[in-house]
Amino acid sequence: MSEDRKRTLAIITSGGDAPGMNACVRAVTRSAIFKGWKVFGVYRGYEGLMNGLFEELISSSVSNMIQRGGTFLKTARSEEFMTPEGHQKAHEQMLAHGADTLIVIGGNGSLTGARDFAKDFPDIAVIGIPGTIDNDLYGTDLTIGYDTALNTIVDCVDKIRDTATSHDRIFFIEVMGRDAGFLAQNSAIASGAEAAIIPEDQTDVDQLAQFISRGMRKSKNSSIVIVSEAKSGGNGGAMYYADRVRKEYPQYDVRVTILGHLQRGGTPSASDRILASRLGYAAIEALDEGQRNIMVGIDDDKIVYVPLTRAVKQDKPIDKELISVLSVLSI
Ligand code: F6P
Repeated sequence: MSEDRKRTLAIITSGGDAPGMNACVRAVTRSAIFKGWKVFGVYRGYEGLMNGLFEELISSSVSNMIQRGGTFLKTARSEEFMTPEGHQKAHEQMLAHGADTLIVIGGNGSLTGARDFAKDFPDIAVIGIPGTIDNDLYGTDLTIGYDTALNTIVDCVDKIRDTATSHDRIFFIEVMGRDAGFLAQNSAIASGAEAAIIPEDQTDVDQLAQFISRGMRKSKNSSIVIVSEAKSGGNGGAMYYADRVRKEYPQYDVRVTILGHLQRGGTPSASDRILASRLGYAAIEALDEGQRNIMVGIDDDKIVYVPLTRAVKQDKPIDKELISVLSVLSI
């Protein structure tokens, strides 16, 4: 049932940018305007929310945006917002602009901030939209930006394979994903890599040894191993594994490529544009149904509402079958 109330929204993009964020801001803006609601775009994520960087968005503000990578609203990682004083400042700015609703497009850290803000200020309706290349939010099959990043990685690995094969080398290719291995595991499957080293599947030197001996048994002359970046504050990453192989198996010619931030840029894929459009539209429908303090997500191709508390608290598991798929198909 539709809520008979006109809302004023503040929308931010927060944390690491992700391809498709602009398409999502466009979808939120136009879906809200369609209902006769008002939308403020807030620049620089929570930093802008605390410092009043509000600008009203009209339909034409989001023209020619669906295909653009990055986020035109800009983004930031804010430590100040995580404090009670930061919440207070943001709340004051919301009230000063007559905004009763906050929409946050971002990843785990950003939606954790949204959850905490909603707890401190129940007068504000908060909706989260999963936007991160990491695909690490619980309760949604996909996050905005993941598909594009995955395709970018596969494109790079295809190129690296040409030179790996020509020189008979082992390449350790490091991809992003912070504490989640979705990018590594699925890019390894999609690029036909020999192995993936991901945080969910605790890999130590023995597993590395196993991979090397298996590789020899298969008498492959070149190998691609996709490695998740090191967990925050932990050991790991492509350099770490490459160094171990160099020490323990000096017969191999080893190289490292760290793909870095090129994974986050570029034009969003068609899938990400559609996902961003669906989730942006769903956020407004959810509000109209009286929902609040939820993340809109996608499960089995259907829109779902996940309490913000659940979306950020639980680790999203990696399907163990993906690990078997890679290990069987790389024999
Ligand atoms: O959260 C998205 C992400 O790209 C992670 O995969 C990565 O660890 C992190 O952001 C890098 O952040 P920054 O661009 O702030 O260095």
